Amino acid sequence: MATTDTRKTTPADITAAAVASFEGCSDVRLREVMQSLVRHLHAFATKVELTEEEWREMIAVLTATGEITDERRQEFILWSDALGLSMLVDALAHALPAGATESTVLGPFYVPGSPRREYGESMVVEAGAGVPAWVYGRVLDVRGAPIAGAELDVWQNGADMLYAVQRPEAEEDHLRGRYLTREDGTYAFVAVRPVPYPIPDDGPVGRMLAATGRHPWRPAHIHMIVRARGYKTVTTHVFDATSEYLDSDTVFAVKPSLLRTFVERSADDPERPPGVAGPWVSLENDIVLAPAEDGEDGGAVVDPGRTA
Ligand code: BEZ
Ligand code: FE
Repeated sequence: MATTDTRKTTPADITAAAVASFEGCSDVRLREVMQSLVRHLHAFATKVELTEEEWREMIAVLTATGEITDERRQEFILWSDALGLSMLVDALAHALPAGATESTVLGPFYVPGSPRREYGESMVVEAGAGVPAWVYGRVLDVRGAPIAGAELDVWQNGADMLYAVQRPEAEEDHLRGRYLTREDGTYAFVAVRPVPYPIPDDGPVGRMLAATGRHPWRPAHIHMIVRARGYKTVTTHVFDATSEYLDSDTVFAVKPSLLRTFVERSADDPERPPGVAGPWVSLENDIVLAPAEDGEDGGAVVDPGRTA
């Protein structure tokens, strides 16, 4: 005899079943994360009444993201950056004592193993990289005491808007270097004035930005990772306080405490650093490190795979 199944499987039933499927997971944290992910993903699809066509488009976007990703290009992190997730995770992870230098995104252009450079040395390897910049300051603890031997791992773009790692023909050590603070906590180096630039926008993230009327630009900044034994490592930027896009950074990474002023200097300024010709700029930027907590890597200064 034919039976008629009168059960109605509702969206809520499907969500409940998917959530319940993780009940047997013995890893408590994994269970919590997976169940919450399913609840939020289902709530999202339900809320926007996701169509089958949109679902197919979403799969195509994820597929394209995988296809464009390789060891030089990480489109998944770019999604995380452009959707504000990277900065959210950063904010959740880094509760800092008052006065400590705030962190911000690492970005895709960091390459470990920069050359060790001397106090005051230039990291400009290729001519015509931009307006010379004398960048200087101190690394301090939260009480204002200098930290000797702290390492500043620095990288930035040039006037062509590009990081060296983006140009296959570039000198690999152009516009990057690792500097140590002196006994009094001071550091200094010659850089160039950074310029605003677009994040890589020739892939799925770029198509999303264009389709939604968003621009791909980031305000001018210099990247730094600052490490010292006994202190929390901070991954941060110093932003040009006069740059365009400070109010609309496409990766939401601007924090007001990280804005600094590049002071314009003339060619005959007596403080002109050795080797610098023509007009230049100077930038003072103190860094304040929070103490490491129990069990944390205190940011021991190690050489990532290369000697000075
Ligand atoms: C950067 O500042 O290098 C960057 C950060 C996030 C996405 C793209 C670039
Ligand atoms: Fe950058």
